[in-house]
Amino acid sequence: MIKKEIPFAVEIYASAEELNDSDATLLAKARAITTQAYAPYSHFNVGAAAMLTDGTTVTATNQENASYPVGICAERVLLSAVASQFTGRGIIIMAISYHNINGKSNTPISPCGICRQSLAEYEERTHQSIRLILSGMLGEVYIIEKAQQLLPLTFSAVSLK
Ligand code: THU
Repeated sequence: MIKKEIPFAVEIYASAEELNDSDATLLAKARAITTQAYAPYSHFNVGAAAMLTDGTTVTATNQENASYPVGICAERVLLSAVASQFTGRGIIIMAISYHNINGKSNTPISPCGICRQSLAEYEERTHQSIRLILSGMLGEVYIIEKAQQLLPLTFSAVSLK
């Protein structure tokens, strides 16, 4: 038996003010777009902003439905929009934030399991790692170098061969 450690590192910033200008701008876009979320059931408005390899920025929000499982997280709305409008283009950075209408929005968001799987496949298909900037409307910001790090032992296309 061998025991393998899988490295995971997160950079923790006290607030958006500690970020470089480009990261701070992308996070500001993710925070601003939360107003466009359609989340009448959870009242948890999520915003995501992607910077593509050519510098283009694309934003998205979560979209819920009266049939709850139909709802889609902001991250996957964003990946679908980028894949459809800028097919094949890599995402270099994705910022994600949220406004919790009935609670606090001051701790970093953490993408759900389905979104982690989708992010990992987007990285794989575009051969481009996605740097994640995770935050709420205020407070700490987490930065993770590659989305795949959020999903060790990822099930992927390779597994289907
Ligand atoms: N949600 C996202 O859009 N992204 C996340 O990273 C976590 C959760 C959405 C799904 C649902 O519309 C609401 O937030 C509450 O779970």
